[in-house]
Amino acid sequence: MKLGLDQQVALVTGGGQGVGRRICLELAQEGARVVVNDLFAERAEAVAREIEAAGGSALAAPADITKIEAVKAMVERAASHFGAPVQILVNNAGILPERREKGGRTPSFLDMPVEDWTKVINLNLYGTMYCCQAVLPGMVERKHGRIVNIISEAGRIGEANFAVYSGAKAAIAGFGKALAREHGRHAITVNAVALGAVSHEGIKDGPLHVDATPQNNELLGKMLSLYPVSKGAGRLSRPEDVAGIVAFLASDRALFITGQTVGASGGYVMI
Ligand SMILES: NC(=O)c1ccc[n+]([C@@H]2O[C@H](COP(=O)([O-])OP(=O)(O)OC[C@H]3O[C@@H](n4cnc5c(N)ncnc54)[C@H](O)[C@@H]3O)[C@@H](O)[C@H]2O)c1
Repeated sequence: MKLGLDQQVALVTGGGQGVGRRICLELAQEGARVVVNDLFAERAEAVAREIEAAGGSALAAPADITKIEAVKAMVERAASHFGAPVQILVNNAGILPERREKGGRTPSFLDMPVEDWTKVINLNLYGTMYCCQAVLPGMVERKHGRIVNIISEAGRIGEANFAVYSGAKAAIAGFGKALAREHGRHAITVNAVALGAVSHEGIKDGPLHVDATPQNNELLGKMLSLYPVSKGAGRLSRPEDVAGIVAFLASDRALFITGQTVGASGGYVMI
């Protein structure tokens, strides 16, 4: 299916590895000009180079999206670089709560230090809000825009030992629905894609490591049994299982989908 993203300027936060990187590559393949954001300049530059090497158009845009002024500057730089405002925003950058011990579990709510709540909420929720605030005026002016927020199934059903993360992701879904209502009249859509466990190259160890197998990682075996499609595929989802959904929601083919959350977790959550 041709998605018609040719020449559209798409900003992907946290695009330097994992899910965000694959979304950048997919949007570029569909013809979008991609602003690859990441906190780490070398990651953003590597993905931008990868896009250009494949014949696409990209701008590496390192910035800490928890800083509102850095977000504004990045969006302005992208518009002046490409001569057009951001029309597609993918709010992908996010962090899990910190595991204080190597290989340990994430803490329960009562054990989680407040400074760790702040980190999780700042990046997942405020980062998303700052980026929306920065790109929306240009979208309103053009009467065209697509916002896709990457959340987690934890935000839909709640996950033990991920209370603050679940809350932040649920807040993004609610925030997105409100934006969808406010900006439908500008032909701007706002949707969320809820992920289950996604294994990728950026994950160093544990069951989500790309080389993990049910034989060498007992936890992975247990996780596969939770996801209906994983049982058949024999694997967890990967960034490429997410990127096509995002590209579709970013396209005009999805104009009449707004305020929705699409689960991309192989049936882990069915609501
Ligand atoms: N991987 C999973 O299993 C999984 C499951 C559910 C939801 N998600 C969600 O999917 C999204 C992507 O996950 P991932 O596993 O690819 O993440 P990741 O940690 O591998 O990559 C995130 C990228 O964001 C960048 N980043 C971190 N802080 C930033 C900041 N302040 N400003 C800009 N960039 C910043 C990082 O440098 C990194 O390159 C996140 O929102 C995450 O919550 C992931």
